[in-house]
Amino acid sequence: MRNLIFLTVLALSFIGVGVIAAPDGKALFDSKCAACHGAEGGGTGMLAPLNGSDFIKNSPTDDIVKIILEGTSKGAIPMPATKVTEEEAKAIADYLKGLK
Ligand code: HEC
Repeated sequence: MRNLIFLTVLALSFIGVGVIAAPDGKALFDSKCAACHGAEGGGTGMLAPLNGSDFIKNSPTDDIVKIILEGTSKGAIPMPATKVTEEEAKAIADYLKGLK
């Protein structure tokens, strides 16, 4: 019985998240990514800009989501995996795609 209540609360909170507050890609980027990739993906001394980059423009959203969730060792310095949900990663990817 306790499990049932728990599951119900869990299910309701998921529905709540989906309907009321879709994850905010910009806010997530600012808190999780900007330290390395610069404000609005503008790059830092060390990393090339993400905003308007060919990689972001030409990659399917799924590929960007995968990098956010799993990291990449493509560059000279590896990028660590970011602790966000898949839904949040998608919101960040959509935000990046919208940057010029
Ligand atoms: C600790 C520093 C750090 C953090 C935090 C970080 N990254 Fe990275 N990121 C890197 C490094 C290093 C690379 C690899 C070098 C490169 O490709 O510029 C990279 C590469 C990438 C790439 C591939 C770029 C390309 O042209 O291939 C994407 C996309 C990316 N990061 C997005 C993100 C997003 C979105 C976040 C936040 C969820 C994030 N990163 C957080 C350091 C970081």
